[in-house]
Amino acid sequence: PKVAVILGGPSAEHDVSLSSGRECATALREEGYDVVELDAGRDLAAHLTDLKPDVVFNALHGRWGEDGCVQGMLEWLGIPYTHSGVLASALAMDKEASKAAYRAAGLPVVDSVLAPRDEVRSRHVMTPPYVVKPNNEGSSVGVYIVHEAANSPPQLSDDMPDVVMVETYAPGRELTTTVMGDRPLTVTDIITDGWYDYSAKYEVGGSRHVVPADIPTEIFDLCMDYALRAHRALGCRGVSRTDFRWDEARGTDGLILLETNTQPGMTPTSLSPEQAQVMGISFGAFCRWMVEDASC
Ligand code: DAL
Ligand code: MG
Repeated sequence: PKVAVILGGPSAEHDVSLSSGRECATALREEGYDVVELDAGRDLAAHLTDLKPDVVFNALHGRWGEDGCVQGMLEWLGIPYTHSGVLASALAMDKEASKAAYRAAGLPVVDSVLAPRDEVRSRHVMTPPYVVKPNNEGSSVGVYIVHEAANSPPQLSDDMPDVVMVETYAPGRELTTTVMGDRPLTVTDIITDGWYDYSAKYEVGGSRHVVPADIPTEIFDLCMDYALRAHRALGCRGVSRTDFRWDEARGTDGLILLETNTQPGMTPTSLSPEQAQVMGISFGAFCRWMVEDASC
């Protein structure tokens, strides 16, 4: 079968997507597929119409590629594609909307508000510590942490959207679980010197991953359960990855859900392929499973 791997795209996670896409394209060729890599520009629909692939492997991250836009276009063209569909992608990408879905499913999240960028710059809209982030980006792009002792509100860059999300800071360890279909894979404990920002995510040695996480069984099982319930609450398909914070001092009450990624990274430092590997699923087999699971 002919597989078009779509990568790059106009989001802030363009470079991450190039890395994910190249890894997947190489692996799928080794698996015997006829693979074409398509850099996702405005003319993507025309390229796909000419190429007529059997499946689109979506290796895009962030806006346009992970928020339902490209998924809608693929539905329109009638080409089966990997990962989540339109609604789940749009819900997961919108942090405020996904929180509403998690709350409705009884999953634990921290309090947050949407506020105009200029207001967030001029006063503390929440008692510090809190976090300010775009409502719809990934890879920690544009995330500001306002510490407890901060006197002044954060000086947000003009690149930030007009309305941003302000969220209570959740202390603790960074845990994550990938769901593959209806199966949560395992839990990774991500250990960083500072916090898990863009460079810690993508520089080799930027963070250390303990997988399976060396945490109490009840927390491990709760991550597996919450990840599957989050995947279902949003209506995800294929592979997703749900990120958590766990405040050890508070036991099971200290585990909160940060977000679900419907297009988890597939780079050499990414978490989902590593979890698959630990569960005995090679990178190639992981990519093949996604292609076989594709639909529209
Ligand atoms: N947003 C990046 C790609 C991830 O969650 O892995
Ligand atoms: Mg993310």
